[in-house]
Amino acid sequence: MSELVRLERRASIAVVTLDRPERMNALSWASVQRLGEIGRELAADSTVRLCVLTGAGEKAFCAGADLKERQGMSRAQVREMLSAYRTELAWLSRSDFVSVAAINGVALGGGLELALTCDLRSISEAATLGLPETGLGIIPGAGGTQRLARLVGVSRALDLTLTQRRIAAAEALSLGIVNRVFPETENVLESTLKWLEPVAEGAPIAQRAALLSVRAAQQLSLDAGLDLERELYERCLESTDRDEALRALAEKRKPLFQGK
Ligand code: COA
Repeated sequence: MSELVRLERRASIAVVTLDRPERMNALSWASVQRLGEIGRELAADSTVRLCVLTGAGEKAFCAGADLKERQGMSRAQVREMLSAYRTELAWLSRSDFVSVAAINGVALGGGLELALTCDLRSISEAATLGLPETGLGIIPGAGGTQRLARLVGVSRALDLTLTQRRIAAAEALSLGIVNRVFPETENVLESTLKWLEPVAEGAPIAQRAALLSVRAAQQLSLDAGLDLERELYERCLESTDRDEALRALAEKRKPLFQGK
């Protein structure tokens, strides 16, 4: 039996692959539980700097909820699933490491919501995105209405949620849903890793401080956010990596960061 979701480590980078290509990498109960397990494993490992989430095969990143499984679920089980999306997937936006969705094919419904839970998103030029839920008599239930509205604004989020239209990578980029579009000829996972090399190789304390500070901007008042930024700056100021960066600059060489 397939593993549903595969975890592979490449030094400080974790690559998490949804691996049910025969079902377009749809999210079953078991795959959501497995994602939660992976999140707990990665959270316990302070060497993880970057987590890339992608889909197996070329057609899909994730086609959303497993609609075949959903047919056999009671209303109570669906309610449990909605809670599980929240508890088992939240690590993607709360961990000490950066998360990025490398969208290699369609990301529909819960698939797009999963990508929206990540800090960053890249997409293959051939991939499309959409929220088909209202056409199925439901609404996005894995945070999509809230995260999309915060990312692109209420009006644009309403367009995508109410019309259910599928958008191409270029439109996703112009709306700000994705950060980068990679040509079809490139492997989106490898191109994403190259794009984010500075994250995986940068000063760990500064990278984490920047991540936590920017993430908090959506939750805090400006004054509280400025206080947090000051507090996080202090951690960098006290670090020996900061001294090393200044020394390396003066000596015209690459800094050697130690995360201290
Ligand atoms: N859950 C379970 N199985 C799914 C699935 C999903 N969300 N999406 C696709 N599959 C399965 C199909 O049933 C099919 O399996 P089968 O051959 O055993 O019937 C297989 O994946 C391939 O899908 P198919 O529709 O033949 O491929 P396609 O390239 O023509 O279309 C999609 C791909 C993803 C566009 C289309 O399958 C689709 O629209 N899926 C539903 C997406 C959706 O509405 N998601 C939101 C859920 S809230």
